[in-house]
Amino acid sequence: MEMGLDSDVRRAADLISDADSVTIISHIDADGISTEAILSQVLTREGMPVESVFVRQLEPMAMRHVPKDGSLKLFTDLGAGQQGLLEEHGLSADEVLILDHHVSQPCETPYPQVNCLDHGITRMSTAGLAYLVAKAIDPTGTDLAKLAVIGNVGDMMAREHCGLVGPAREIVQDGVEYGNIIVHERDLNCYGTSTRPIHVCLAYCDDPYIDGITNNTNAALRFLDRLGIPLKNSRGGWLVWEELPFEDKRKIISALAQQLIAHGRETDRLLAETYIFPDEPERTPLRNASEYATLLNACGRWAKPRVGSCICHGDRGDAYREAEHMLAHHRTIIRDLLQYILENGVTELSHLQYIHTGDRFPDTIVGIGAGMALSKLNWKKPMMVLAAMVDEPEVTKVSMRTNEWALGQGVDLAQALVEASAAVGGAGGGHKIAAGAFIPRDTEEEFVDGVNRILKRQFASADPDDS
Ligand code: C5P
Ligand code: C5P
Ligand code: C5P
Repeated sequence: MEMGLDSDVRRAADLISDADSVTIISHIDADGISTEAILSQVLTREGMPVESVFVRQLEPMAMRHVPKDGSLKLFTDLGAGQQGLLEEHGLSADEVLILDHHVSQPCETPYPQVNCLDHGITRMSTAGLAYLVAKAIDPTGTDLAKLAVIGNVGDMMAREHCGLVGPAREIVQDGVEYGNIIVHERDLNCYGTSTRPIHVCLAYCDDPYIDGITNNTNAALRFLDRLGIPLKNSRGGWLVWEELPFEDKRKIISALAQQLIAHGRETDRLLAETYIFPDEPERTPLRNASEYATLLNACGRWAKPRVGSCICHGDRGDAYREAEHMLAHHRTIIRDLLQYILENGVTELSHLQYIHTGDRFPDTIVGIGAGMALSKLNWKKPMMVLAAMVDEPEVTKVSMRTNEWALGQGVDLAQALVEASAAVGGAGGGHKIAAGAFIPRDTEEEFVDGVNRILKRQFASADPDDS
């Protein structure tokens, strides 16, 4: 492990061990939920009293969930960007610890913090930090590496390099040695390899975009038929990718590669490293890291982060059944959202494209729709979705997504939204590639123009020839 990170992690572990009790305040997404599950499990094993609170966003209203007691307040997957708010609430430096991977907000109070960004680490999320801290507290708890991998994959840390890298990859190795992670180094880079029929899995693949297969399940079925791959099991049910014999997988992958080459496309994203969990039942979303992460996201985004946490703690009864329902619901709404965006069309400005979805979809999922729509629209223009907040009619939620290509052109969505939202009296943050904001509803137009101007500046700064 890198030296600076190592000493930050050690200090965090000591602060936690010295506390009388701990309150974990974590974010509701897969990273936040797996982070909470790692820390609450290691602390429970140590006999430390621990309570958990999940919040959608650390904003003034959410602060009432932070208890005023003698516990150490452990802010995870949030907090770095809201230190001013912690200060306003009178939290002192000796009762707070922040574990985060979001951009920090400068503030007077020197809150102890472990932040991936302070160490130049952009491919590990908070669950990775939580695991490193947990391991510093209890070096034998390597079973928890699996949860760190789920959090990292859920926050897209494996996307750019088609697998985890750096410290996040080292954590994978702990799980392999423990025995609850199997690594497939050169597997198909598709979502749904444990639960979807193979042709459906292929048709949903859009990174890489496979001409004649992407978005076309019937064509995918014919493609597999031509290869002579048996697609059903002895009971007549569809096989999933994971169940295919190695030889059949090879055959499909090489035919897909030929298909890409025939259409002049790159093949470098066809394969990825995938993380399988042999201790989980086959043909379920618990079986691999990316599907497990979606299950947790479904719980969190539909206001049941605790159900996700119970699953991470090993509950395979009521909590799992509830999560399965939420996952089905999550998928349906996201499909509707994507369809809504594509059917209604976006408004294109010079440097961004946007759509307002009104109150049709909850503000917690519009960002997912923005990301999915981007690859189907003009992928060179960062995508923005504006959504009405049902419980706060004066506020508009904004979600933006872009891609690695745009980052290479100088785009930084977090910076753009922090600046543009501050100018209209709102607040934003996040990552270069994915960011969000809350703004006053009556400033929408001015705000969208502001973001477009900032993006224009960002694009121009990386390429002086670009106007
Ligand atoms: O808080 P926040 O970290 O939750 O946002 C996480 C979301 O941002 C993920 O759902 C993912 O879509 C996106 N993200 C990404 N690439 C990154 C980091 C985050 O797409 N490098
Ligand atoms: O579409 P075209 O073949 O010109 O794509 C050129 C580059 O754009 C490739 O690197 C490809 O991966 C990327 N691309 C993308 N999203 C798409 C289509 C292409 O990132 N939907
Ligand atoms: O909500 P959404 O998925 O679009 O969020 C993308 C990223 O922006 C997340 O990392 C989230 O924590 C961050 N965000 C933020 N401030 C906001 C809204 C979102 O930092 N007001």
